[in-house]
Amino acid sequence: MIRTERLIIEPLEAAMQQHVDWLNNQDLMRFSEQRHVQHSLQSQQLYVSLNESLNIRTDDIETVGTLTIHRDVNNNTVDLGIMIGVAFGGRGFGTEAFTAISDWLISDRFFRKVEAGCMLHNLPMVKIMAASGFVLEGRRAQHFILEKQPTKAAAQLSDMLYFGKFLASKKRIHRYEAPPAPLPL
Ligand SMILES: CC(C)(COP(=O)(O)OP(=O)(O)OC[C@H]1O[C@@H](n2cnc3c(N)ncnc32)[C@H](O)[C@@H]1OP(=O)(O)O)[C@@H](O)C(=O)NCCC(=O)NCCS
Repeated sequence: MIRTERLIIEPLEAAMQQHVDWLNNQDLMRFSEQRHVQHSLQSQQLYVSLNESLNIRTDDIETVGTLTIHRDVNNNTVDLGIMIGVAFGGRGFGTEAFTAISDWLISDRFFRKVEAGCMLHNLPMVKIMAASGFVLEGRRAQHFILEKQPTKAAAQLSDMLYFGKFLASKKRIHRYEAPPAPLPL
């Protein structure tokens, strides 16, 4: 269990149904590839049996969000994902939880590096990366179709951004720079 100023991070089990409901929320998932998938309790139970998933809660609220962790034991790295429920967005919970779990993974758990990715258009997530000490490592141009349009040329596209957070700041390959604003579509 990890405790921050306002949050408690612990195993997911009890909050599984809430996790599934958020994953099926098209509005919340608008910048995530999960929007293409119909999730169920069974599919998430299978997922959790293969990957680590954590619940984020406060002392009063059973769950405000969830975290997913994929370990790469061969390279001693870990991939991190986060989801904060719509009702709890914009209160700094995402930043607080992402900072705490990534610090814990590279200090107490001795992972060499934590990696995470998001769409360029996912501004709250880009801000979380910056605030929690991640550096921008790479960018895959116009990788995602955000919204399909009647003609292919008019489709709304977004870049994929790759971030990393390293064990020691001296190992950072370069400082974080905010990616340029999305190109006009
Ligand atoms: C991305 C996500 C985790 C953000 O969580 P959150 O708890 O709202 O984030 P925070 O409150 O810590 O806010 C981070 C920053 O984004 C800003 N922000 C949050 N919601 C916003 C919104 N809807 N519009 C604009 N800015 C927003 C905050 O003001 C803050 O900016 P600041 O640092 O300049 O003050 C949440 O929206 C989410 O779960 N989205 C769906 C899943 C997803 O996209 N995950 C990322 C891929 S792993």
